[in-house]
Amino acid sequence: MVAVHVLNGPNLNLLGTREPATYGAVTLAGVEERLKAKATAAGVELSFKQTNYEGELVTFIQQAGLSGAGVIINAGAYTHTSVALRDAIKGTEALAIEVHVSNVHAREDFRHHSYMAPVCVGVICGFGVASYDLAFDAIVPLLQKRVAKPAG
Ligand code: DQA
Repeated sequence: MVAVHVLNGPNLNLLGTREPATYGAVTLAGVEERLKAKATAAGVELSFKQTNYEGELVTFIQQAGLSGAGVIINAGAYTHTSVALRDAIKGTEALAIEVHVSNVHAREDFRHHSYMAPVCVGVICGFGVASYDLAFDAIVPLLQKRVAKPAG
């Protein structure tokens, strides 16, 4: 069975109340509920986590990558600062998609750079919480293709 780990970084626990003009009114629990419904319908095993700690996010990526699960990651501000997250994706060969609720390219310059983007399959940003849904729809066929690939 294909597995997807949705990993959320710092301050995403505040989704729904934090800067609603930028991030909208849906809570992280609401995002989890939507994705769990999509996963059940698609026959995909879904794990959904949030942490405010960079090291814990590294551990979450390692666990997903080493188990062969796909990663949908909104690393929040660590996207723009963390070499460790990039190394965790690269080092475990995790199939990962970077997501953002807001369009980071339409915001401050410091949000335009991502350390993780070059080691991810792709980046989805700017669609509100639907960025997560789009990432889910994109990652499932990629994982299915990878699972179906004969060894060697
Ligand atoms: C964010 C964008 C980041 O720049 C910011 O630090 C966040 C949220 C987003 O989902 O739009 O915390 O990742």
